[in-house]
Amino acid sequence: MKIQMVDMVKQYAQIKEKVEPKVLEVLSGGWYIGGPELKNFEEKAAEYIGVKHAIGCANGTDALQITMMAAGIEPGDEVITTPFTFIATAETIKILGAKPVFVDVKPDTYNIDADLIESVITEKTKAIIPVHLYGQSADMDKIMAIAVKYDLKVIEDNAQGFGAKYKGKQLGSIGHMATVSFYPAKNLGAAGDGGLILTNDDELVGKLRMIANHGQNERYKHQVVGVNSRLDSIQAAILAIKLEYLDEWNSRRRINAEKYKKALSEVAILPYEDKDNYHIYHQFSIQVKNRDELQKHLFDNNIPNAIHYPIPLHLQVAFKDNNYPAGSFPVSEKVAENIISLPMHPDLTDEEINYITEKVIEFYK
Ligand SMILES: Cc1ncc(COP(=O)(O)O)c(C=O)c1O
Repeated sequence: MKIQMVDMVKQYAQIKEKVEPKVLEVLSGGWYIGGPELKNFEEKAAEYIGVKHAIGCANGTDALQITMMAAGIEPGDEVITTPFTFIATAETIKILGAKPVFVDVKPDTYNIDADLIESVITEKTKAIIPVHLYGQSADMDKIMAIAVKYDLKVIEDNAQGFGAKYKGKQLGSIGHMATVSFYPAKNLGAAGDGGLILTNDDELVGKLRMIANHGQNERYKHQVVGVNSRLDSIQAAILAIKLEYLDEWNSRRRINAEKYKKALSEVAILPYEDKDNYHIYHQFSIQVKNRDELQKHLFDNNIPNAIHYPIPLHLQVAFKDNNYPAGSFPVSEKVAENIISLPMHPDLTDEEINYITEKVIEFYK
């Protein structure tokens, strides 16, 4: 038994028969950038999420930068987000010369605590970026109400939640714009890098496409300084095939999460699924005592695992000039000390889950 954190090989075996002829077709067709495969995937993704526009780009990090550029984020502006996320969320704020203003997370979902957002809004605040961490929605009703009250843009960082829902709505369809990552290990992953921007806004879509394409709206006519960020045709073709499997894969993740929860309720703080949410368990992350020792015990027993995330962003050296001392965000800091992610993917077997949970329980005996 060789347990994988995410089993790309088992996943590929299920789609190989469809993917291989498609990739060969794209290769022999000679249209590698843009073209019909990209258009087809953008349309399918927009329909799946229930938004008017989907724009392919190179990765989830670029998607964040492009959406913020389209929102007019400039040096000196402030963008509110969570410190308990992957660095891309705040890194892109800083790249644009703006200031990430962090708000602590909720102790149950680990998503931004919407009740704390208003207290940090200033006249420089331009946007809020909630992250749907581990595949579960942030409190979007509260966040959208604040955005309306203060005239702010909301960009959902939906890198981890493609296919998850909030009050029956697909994540990525609620904010003014949303960003997606198709990094291979994501619930919907490419065979390489890929990203997507989602919006219902007919004005923003032109701006987004222009910024992602060197700021040009016609060939060699550059209206603004943009970036070069494309989703390749081969990746788009593969993603369109994988999208057909996504709901089934996500529901299998949910079944696996239930099995883990049943077994681990006495030894860990389990992932909490808010009643309004359809969590897709991009990660199955638990809080435990003696986390670092448990991690070693798991590695010693050939169980892969990961810490998402060991250092909240406000304590990263890269953000030291934002002057958030230790203790600024106590919930994030505590969760970072205790959290550990166990293997999670649709193809985990009962034998694997039993072995993993037995080894966790054994550690606490
Ligand atoms: C929350 C979050 N935002 C953004 C990203 C960036 O996505 P990418 O790796 O495709 O650039 C990730 C990727 O892991 C992520 O988890």
